[in-house]
Amino acid sequence: MGNFASPVACSLVVVASLCLLNFLIVVPHYFYKMTPVENIPQNTKESPVTGSPSIQAPMVVVVCEAALNNGSHQSLVNNATTVKDIEKYVDLLRESWTRQLEQLNSMLKTLLYFSKSDKWRIIVMTDTVSTFNKVIKLTHTFPERHRQRLELQHEKVWFPDKYPGIKEHWRPCVWAKQFLAEALPHEDSVVYFDTDVVFLGPAEEVWSLLRSMKTGQAVSLAPEPQYILDNPKRPYAGRAGLNTGVIIANLTRLRQLPGGGLGSAILREGSFYPLPRHDQDALNHFLMNKPHLVQEVTSRWNFAPSSCFSSAPSCPDCVSAGILVLHGADMSFYRNVERKFLTMYNAVKWLKLDENPSVLLNNVTLQLSHKDSWTPYFPCSNYTNINLALTQGLSHASSLHDHPSII
Ligand SMILES: *[C@@H]1O[C@H](CO)[C@@H](O)[C@H](O)[C@H]1NC(C)=O
Ligand SMILES: *[C@@H]1O[C@H](CO)[C@@H](O)[C@H](O)[C@H]1NC(C)=O
Ligand SMILES: *[C@@H]1O[C@H](CO)[C@@H](O)[C@H](O)[C@H]1NC(C)=O
Ligand SMILES: *[C@@H]1O[C@H](CO)[C@@H](O)[C@H](O)[C@H]1NC(C)=O
Ligand SMILES: *[C@@H]1O[C@H](CO)[C@@H](O)[C@H](O)[C@H]1NC(C)=O
Repeated sequence: MGNFASPVACSLVVVASLCLLNFLIVVPHYFYKMTPVENIPQNTKESPVTGSPSIQAPMVVVVCEAALNNGSHQSLVNNATTVKDIEKYVDLLRESWTRQLEQLNSMLKTLLYFSKSDKWRIIVMTDTVSTFNKVIKLTHTFPERHRQRLELQHEKVWFPDKYPGIKEHWRPCVWAKQFLAEALPHEDSVVYFDTDVVFLGPAEEVWSLLRSMKTGQAVSLAPEPQYILDNPKRPYAGRAGLNTGVIIANLTRLRQLPGGGLGSAILREGSFYPLPRHDQDALNHFLMNKPHLVQEVTSRWNFAPSSCFSSAPSCPDCVSAGILVLHGADMSFYRNVERKFLTMYNAVKWLKLDENPSVLLNNVTLQLSHKDSWTPYFPCSNYTNINLALTQGLSHASSLHDHPSII
């Protein structure tokens, strides 16, 4: 036994140290002191959303290819072993069109897998028609009966004439999501998602947030606790900063802002500066003194690795109802930021749309519990009941699948 164990133990040590090295270099800011996050499960069941709410209020995604790394066949295997390799890999990821397409594929698959809606109207805003065609092509890999549920509509991204360069600002088209009211004059409301999210439950539930906004509230946003830890501090809105990966927006109300839309109002107020300020910072700056415009929701609706920080606002419904939208912010579906994010992403990346949810649930549960024995230095290591929060949607889907008569 001893003879057998030592080479295994040795290679485990090597792997573990490489992982730690990778982690240390890539995310030094996670090394803040953290205390366990207590989440008390509560019964906070929303009224169920049925039907196809995106017909009334479309889902919106923005996909731009220009200025991105054009090697569409580039391998995204992380084989980095040295500091320099890791930096190179992160640069490759940041610019990678392959990554963007893979993420979009996973997002659409999880949308179709968990949702019961028979139609999904999705406005795909792109820089060129060719980019839109690539998105269409991607959906051709889905089984016909699922593909028929998608109704993709093309719109061009919209930017104000007076700010040339805003299109390329930070990353291609990131600012586009601030100009939805301007770009989509015929829509009353929309639900916007970054392409680096996957759904872990029925996406239509997000649409309930449009209805729960009070008169005067124009957007619903979840926290971005990274702002609390930043040094030097950036101005932020909400309890802990707000994340723009998921934006539930009443465009009719946004059009009442000075300039006729959110982005235009931000620019008017000068929140664009100092450069380089990305759109999320600008939005936080803009909303800082306008809390009446925002319905702040829990991270259940937009859960990034930073949602696990002990400084993050608590999220009882993350555990009781399950995380609905998992957000691989800052490329965390492709690098070693939080191992459980990688587990979830890899499980859905290879998912077949007719996969039995119980099989997937068993597989994912096992993998997640293996990760519990890793070093406790990942952002979600001490987050109480994180495994449950990540798998509630799948548990629900498997009980419906195995006992369809319960509904
Ligand atoms: C989690 O808790 C352990 C034990 O208290 C501690 O050593 C570790 O630093 C914590 N991890 C994080 C990411 O806070
Ligand atoms: C990407 O490469 C293709 C063919 O190699 C080329 O036609 C296209 O213009 C390139 N796109 C960009 C954005 O550089
Ligand atoms: C890692 O993989 C890339 C692409 O597959 C390759 O070009 C590179 O040489 C590899 N690097 C190492 C250190 O093996
Ligand atoms: C959006 O706001 C307008 C104006 O207040 C309102 O008439 C409309 O019903 C709202 N849309 C939704 C989906 O709640
Ligand atoms: C479980 O997941 C692993 C890793 O994603 C995969 O290799 C394996 O085939 C899966 N097993 C089943 C039964 O789905």
